[in-house]
Amino acid sequence: MQDEFERMRWLREEIEAANKQYYLLDQPTMTDADYDALMRELLSLEAIHPDWVTPDSPTIRVGGEVAKEYSKVRHLEPLLSLDNAFSAEDLREFDRRVRQVTSSVDYVVELKIDGLTVALTYENGLLAVGATRGDGEVGEDITANVKTVKSIPLRLKDEVPGLSVRGEGYMPKASFARLNQEREEEGLSTFANPRNAAAGSLRQLNSKITAQRKLDYFAYQVLGANELGLHNQREVLAFLKEQGFVVNPEYKIFQTIEEVIAYCEKMSSERHGFSYDIDGLVIKVNDFAVQQELGFTAKSPRSAIAYKFPAEQVETVVEDILIRVGRTGVLTPTAVLRPVLVAGSTVSRATLHNLDNIRQKDIRIGDHVLLQKAGDVIPEVVRMLPEKRTGEERIFVMPEYCPECQSPVRQDEGEVAYRCQSITCPARQREGIIHFVSRDAMAIDGLGPAVIQQLLDANLISDAADLYSLTFEELIPLERMGKKSAENLLKAIQESKTRGLGPLLFALGIRHTGEKAGKVLAQRFGSMEQLMHASLEELQEIPDIGPTMAENLVYFFSLESTKLFIEKLSRAGVDMTAEKASKPQIFAGKSIVVTGSLERWDRREIEKVIEDHGGKAASSVSKKTAFVIAGEKAGSKLTKAQELGVQVLSEDQFEVLLKQQD
Ligand code: IVH
Repeated sequence: MQDEFERMRWLREEIEAANKQYYLLDQPTMTDADYDALMRELLSLEAIHPDWVTPDSPTIRVGGEVAKEYSKVRHLEPLLSLDNAFSAEDLREFDRRVRQVTSSVDYVVELKIDGLTVALTYENGLLAVGATRGDGEVGEDITANVKTVKSIPLRLKDEVPGLSVRGEGYMPKASFARLNQEREEEGLSTFANPRNAAAGSLRQLNSKITAQRKLDYFAYQVLGANELGLHNQREVLAFLKEQGFVVNPEYKIFQTIEEVIAYCEKMSSERHGFSYDIDGLVIKVNDFAVQQELGFTAKSPRSAIAYKFPAEQVETVVEDILIRVGRTGVLTPTAVLRPVLVAGSTVSRATLHNLDNIRQKDIRIGDHVLLQKAGDVIPEVVRMLPEKRTGEERIFVMPEYCPECQSPVRQDEGEVAYRCQSITCPARQREGIIHFVSRDAMAIDGLGPAVIQQLLDANLISDAADLYSLTFEELIPLERMGKKSAENLLKAIQESKTRGLGPLLFALGIRHTGEKAGKVLAQRFGSMEQLMHASLEELQEIPDIGPTMAENLVYFFSLESTKLFIEKLSRAGVDMTAEKASKPQIFAGKSIVVTGSLERWDRREIEKVIEDHGGKAASSVSKKTAFVIAGEKAGSKLTKAQELGVQVLSEDQFEVLLKQQD
């Protein structure tokens, strides 16, 4: 028995050493067959002695755990994203902003790996949780899958009490090619690109499948690095490597933005030379003290920027131009293209946005054009190729009557858009309902555009509120609607009643009011009733609600049709309330600037407190600034506040202010 215990220990060590040689040092020390033999032996010993399986056993990487669904995990700190730079000028602008707070700067430039963010949490040196980004605040727990990725250490070198690491999970190009080939042979659908394949694989419910997908991981960030005695990004990368992570070796350090730009240009032409996809470079201020001074916007740190490589362009032909009528009645011309492969997927349609764009680019039916994907996602016609013209091309004309309802089409004054004037246009109604049920709105699963069209055609609904009175008997006769899907659909419709005010406001499709604004309004007013009675001034006071949005809201709620529609939803039992912000909104409408280094607050924390109390944490001081909170070594912002006569509070004074109110 003891022998077997020892043998298991030896096997674990051999396998981990081989993993390390392979994944960290890129120097394989054993053949795949030898490796597999050791793994099999360890697996069979573990089957005999389940009590001796250690939490960091390499056999965990084989997978096996099958989940029904993923549970959610709240990230310790929200996962932010980065601002993008598309040109040398954007990078110079970034540099100018950085140099407002420091005279000399080191930039760490890393490859931007085209995968998905994976957050890892270690407890006492052992991998405890792996999570996707999710909405940045709450992600999905994919621990079992993450454990199958061999370049993610199950145990750190040191027993760090708690460690949160962020990095990119990705699928190497070779694994991707092999996977798609296998899937094709099995008659399965293929993945569009390695990023989708990596995301799909990490979100598998059966971790055994993830294990077969050959994923990898590059670590690049440590939360609370300061507390670990790390002072800059370079030290973070060294620390991560030391603890057993794979850090992308291609990073470089530069002192000037011109060197960074030259490197970006060089990498742009060498981007395809790696064994994994990259979609740009990430430029980070090295020093954490400077990072801290630069602070954050709502979505991203000001101390880093993502340089996106220019999009790949391919040639194709505009075979036709069709019209799509949207939710607000806008007629959008859409190019029907000869199918072509660009940046990883086949494209046969591209929006041409509006008539002005078509005229400006002089795009005609039959033209040869250059196509690219904007941000590597949305297909876009860049320009036509005049040298390929034959004279046979046809000029596109905007129809005078809506192709869906034959009502007159008119161009709104001062706008580029042409609109169908009928509010009862079936296309507008259909698109409105499609939006109403969409994921960030009422999220009704199983109610795609085709089913919505069927419901409209059968006169079962005329607006989204009618969905709530659909019955099983009404659904069953519809084509391709089985018993099970009818039941599921009715259940999903019922469930959607409880989404709450935020998603509902977005679902209503009020012009300019997006998902985020819906949330903000819901938090602020707590109920539809309250919001409907809000004045223009009240709305304008809210940070994040611009003047146009405020005007549109007031107009929208003044319409008789809106009142009737909301009444109908309310009668159907749709929840029209939200949890109001729990903190007193003492800073509502106030712009507050934090500068210098604070003793008791992390910069993000204090900014969150300001926002939770209804204020806006702004980055620059102006006459409109309500007050400035200044810590040690406050620089130019403090001087500016003093010059402008803006009130300055110390950390203590700010805390007193808060305590009085909470
Ligand atoms: S740093 C605050 N470094 O690019 C965000 N991101 O928006 C810190 N990415 O979602 C991100 N390679 O998933 C960073 N070397 C790298 C990266 C990287 C890829 C991804 C990451 C993030 C997105 C940037």
